[in-house]
Amino acid sequence: MAAEARIKRIGVLTGGGDCPGLNAVIRAVVKTGLLEYGFEACGILDGFEGLVKDRMVKLDYQDVSGILTRGGTILGTSNTAHPFQYVEHDGDPADAQDLSDQCVENFERAGLDVLFCIGGDGSLSIAHQLARKGLPIVGVPKTIDNDIYGTDVTFGFDTAVQIVTEALDRVHTTAMSHHRAMVIETMGRYAGWLALVGGIAGGGDVILIPEIPYTMENICKVVEERSHLGKRFSIIVVSEGVKLPDGDFVVRRRVAEGYEKMRLGGIGIWLAAEIDDRTPVVSRAVVLGHMQRGGTPTAYDRVLATRFGYEAVVQAVAGNFDTMVGLQGTEIVAVPLADVADRQRLVEPDCGLVRAARSVGTSFGDGAG
Ligand code: F6P
Repeated sequence: MAAEARIKRIGVLTGGGDCPGLNAVIRAVVKTGLLEYGFEACGILDGFEGLVKDRMVKLDYQDVSGILTRGGTILGTSNTAHPFQYVEHDGDPADAQDLSDQCVENFERAGLDVLFCIGGDGSLSIAHQLARKGLPIVGVPKTIDNDIYGTDVTFGFDTAVQIVTEALDRVHTTAMSHHRAMVIETMGRYAGWLALVGGIAGGGDVILIPEIPYTMENICKVVEERSHLGKRFSIIVVSEGVKLPDGDFVVRRRVAEGYEKMRLGGIGIWLAAEIDDRTPVVSRAVVLGHMQRGGTPTAYDRVLATRFGYEAVVQAVAGNFDTMVGLQGTEIVAVPLADVADRQRLVEPDCGLVRAARSVGTSFGDGAG
């Protein structure tokens, strides 16, 4: 029997850190399910937390109408709830429990026939683990970090790039007025995509990403040379995952629960202080933080999210589970979650983007031209 005939009720959840476009995917999944296939739809609240705790709501057409342009997620999300190592809020991580069977029971009790997991690498890895327990799952890749294997781009990234670019435009004018070196720290975790693409779009003089080693000497040289050439300001874009010269990450906080134990942040502040100390140029830092995840999605992200949501339903109807939809070239494809799980897509240090940036005089702090 075709998988289409077996599906009556679909479930959708958003897991991990939020990003613009989540609502656009929820809308596309639910509307496609309701209108094209006559399914019923159900939203699982707060990511895998809702699956563990059986917190679900029915989603009708009206619930997903008018949410295309809204940032965040109407379902809520969590980047700490891990069904296989579940810890109660404020609980002791030593008491972590495997509640994945409970998730399967809740899924079955709700009468769901497929679960759409919209998430980043952590959530998609959990989705794969649950799929291996028998849950029929289709994943959708979200994140401003753009670091999901199997897709050229994730939704949310374009909007975050836009926010970084706008921030750089604004920082440029104040840097010029005060003849300063302004350091702008982006998110992105261990991948430099956001700093790289935002930095190119915003005309960064130095772009520092985790994938390309730098030295302070090289950075200071760029800043001082620009001063000598009469450009009395510099813009340095740094990704939060760039390490200190001793090889350590700059960590805002270490946490015991969830699947991301290290909260990165602060390399920009350290860098600005170093430039201040080592050169005659005054430096200041701006940490963009969660600004990059907020607000309305760009047109590109709305369209990508809509395509992903629609294609995810098509894959489910075809019975193509334990997969993720991804964009490869101009086509949406299905990628096995096994290939996506526990993997990251990093910037290739010699990719075309890096070469193009170098060709317009951008430094990566590595001394190369
Ligand atoms: O993965 C998305 C992301 O915004 C990263 O860029 C960042 O390191 C992290 O999430 C921040 O997480 P939190 O919302 O827990 O502070």
